[in-house]
Amino acid sequence: MDARFDCRMMARALELAALGEGSVEPNPMVGCVIVRDGQIVGEGWHRRFGGPHAEVMAIAAAGPAARGASLYVTLEPCCHFGKTPPCTEAILAAGVSRVVAAQRDPFPRVDGGGFRQLQAAGLTVEVGPLETQAAQLNAPYRKLVSRGRPWMLAKWAMTLDGKLATRTGDSRWISSDASRRIVHQIRGRMDAILVGSGTARIDDPQLTARPNGPRTALRIVLDSKALLSDHSQLVRTAREIPVLAAVGTEAAAYDRTRLEAAGCETFLMSGDSRTERLLSLLDELGRRRMTNVLIEGGAELHGTCFDAGEVDEVHAFISPRIIGGAKATAAVAGQGCDLISRAFLLREPQVANIDGDIYVRGRTERP
Ligand SMILES: NC(=O)c1ccc[n+]([C@@H]2O[C@H](COP(=O)([O-])OP(=O)(O)OC[C@H]3O[C@@H](n4cnc5c(N)ncnc54)[C@H](OP(=O)(O)O)[C@@H]3O)[C@@H](O)[C@H]2O)c1
Repeated sequence: MDARFDCRMMARALELAALGEGSVEPNPMVGCVIVRDGQIVGEGWHRRFGGPHAEVMAIAAAGPAARGASLYVTLEPCCHFGKTPPCTEAILAAGVSRVVAAQRDPFPRVDGGGFRQLQAAGLTVEVGPLETQAAQLNAPYRKLVSRGRPWMLAKWAMTLDGKLATRTGDSRWISSDASRRIVHQIRGRMDAILVGSGTARIDDPQLTARPNGPRTALRIVLDSKALLSDHSQLVRTAREIPVLAAVGTEAAAYDRTRLEAAGCETFLMSGDSRTERLLSLLDELGRRRMTNVLIEGGAELHGTCFDAGEVDEVHAFISPRIIGGAKATAAVAGQGCDLISRAFLLREPQVANIDGDIYVRGRTERP
């Protein structure tokens, strides 16, 4: 088999892996194809958390044709009992003779162990085709495993002059219906959605995905003094869709109890500065194995997240409106950068026209 053929097969496996987005986390997205005599004889992908892994699905699809075949998989096969038995055992039982993997699994209970088991059993193991693409696909998983924090996406809608809202706080609606539908799709695959107390007070958002996506996000308000109103949409719906108020030590016990009695969870952020408090919250979300978290404003929360270097991906909708006003909220506050050379950059940004809005998205590059 030549390297170009291997890359083509791995590209197909990556396409399959991506189908699991939003349904498999905190597991990685994984795709697999089984090839015999130059033909694909079985395909599979990890479809949902707790369900069978990609290799097992592809082996089942291939049936007896897996014997003596090559198996292409986007991530090292697991070699431990988790929610399902080890994939290495299924591969050995199927009689596959060659395994090509795009990358090693950084998860400590695998981390090369899957490859070693297969090699010890006499299989040919090759690692590397489309490794960069595979690592990019699972960047959120890799961040959670390596740093214990979720992948953070910041989304905002702003005017052409860079504002999130008018000087009176009005922001409905800056972006088009079509742009907002994209936001609902993003929400539907998130583990949590964060807003600052300013946005919760001024916009009174629901922070739900409409229609529902594959998962329901925990709705989180950073609310140092626990002043979220009992009449807010968030508190009124907290018994149906979970709400967490992230509070500071200055929150009165009375207010924490009030929110808890209304069905909200409260979490005490540690540290004095905004950055420290944000990081303590992200560490907690990581402990809960949350993989993807959406930051939905406003400017002050965006500022803290950028200052902390914790924005991994940006989705900005730029509307062809100009509202002006020195007091109108700009998209990102916080400390910001002192020099252009230290600005966050979007690496290879994708730009689209969404019903008149310019949609810019991309992953951030650290200065
Ligand atoms: N166009 C858009 O996409 C969009 C999206 C969202 C919001 N908005 C607009 O943005 C405006 C609100 O933005 P904003 O900047 O005033 O408020 P914000 O960022 O929503 O909330 C800021 C407040 O959150 C609290 N907070 C607690 N911990 C924090 C932390 N670690 N980092 C940052 N904040 C923390 C602080 O108040 P406490 O310390 O008192 O808790 C802070 O004053 C509204 O007009 C809204 O309509 C627009």
